Amino acid sequence: MAVRRTQTTSFATITLILMVLVSIDAASDNNGQYSPCGDTTVARSDGFSLGLAFAGKTSFYFNTTQQLSPCDSRLRLSSSSSLFALFRPKVDEISLLTVNTTTSLETYGYMVAFAGRKYAARSTPAFVANNTYIVTSFTLALEFQKGRLQNFYWKRDGCAKCSGSSNFVCLNNQDCAIKTSSCKNNGGTVDCSLGIQLAFSGTDKHLQALNSWYEVANLRQYSLYGVYSNLKDSLTNQYNSFF
Ligand SMILES: *[C@@H]1O[C@H](CO)[C@@H](O)[C@H](O)[C@H]1NC(C)=O
Ligand SMILES: *[C@@H]1O[C@H](CO)[C@@H](O)[C@H](O)[C@H]1NC(C)=O
Ligand SMILES: *[C@@H]1O[C@H](CO)[C@@H](O)[C@H](O)[C@H]1NC(C)=O
Repeated sequence: MAVRRTQTTSFATITLILMVLVSIDAASDNNGQYSPCGDTTVARSDGFSLGLAFAGKTSFYFNTTQQLSPCDSRLRLSSSSSLFALFRPKVDEISLLTVNTTTSLETYGYMVAFAGRKYAARSTPAFVANNTYIVTSFTLALEFQKGRLQNFYWKRDGCAKCSGSSNFVCLNNQDCAIKTSSCKNNGGTVDCSLGIQLAFSGTDKHLQALNSWYEVANLRQYSLYGVYSNLKDSLTNQYNSFF
């Protein structure tokens, strides 16, 4: 397993952006499914397309109780009130997805990870930001069985990492949040770009075990930021100085 992928999506002021960032080794990627709204099974060396949708929490529910995939047109998400980002990490490589925000995420509030159509998987909506707080660090686990994505989980390990820092507030005993007034786009000094660490578990289509989940579980929550040398100094230093 290698640790080297960083993918960044920038949100400009337009309301709906779909970006495909393909930085993987085309030679070993035999997954021809590039849409996050299509079904596929993958092997360890393949790329895998997944989407992140940002919107208000209730926008992810149909008829108020049924959480659907953002690919499902019944949600009518592709309106002016949501943002989409598309990533293509490599299966079983620890990856850090970064979302560089030039507009404020507090307008949207929540984030859902999704992939697949007939076999649709989506995470629960995770709180990202409101007018007061923003959560910038996430760990997303992808569980596969025989190469087919079964589930997305937000892996949370409590607020132990930020309990000693005055820069952070612990929300709901699970998320380390920064005051949005500290963010650069609000005149503060902190780069409030999101960092989403990925971890893969389960088996690929050849029944080979995916192990990056095990590795991430043994790492400190923010330790990967230091590994990604091509991340902008601001993001790296911010975490180095906080912990
Ligand atoms: C919405 O939910 C209500 C109450 O559970 C149900 O009676 C109704 O049929 C549902 N509507 C649709 C379109 O599924
Ligand atoms: C923002 O979210 C936090 C945590 O859920 C909550 O305590 C706070 O009241 C919210 N603030 C606003 C302005 O909605
Ligand atoms: C985000 O984009 C801004 C403007 O392009 C840039 O100055 C900043 O360094 C970027 N941050 C990261 C973490 O890439």
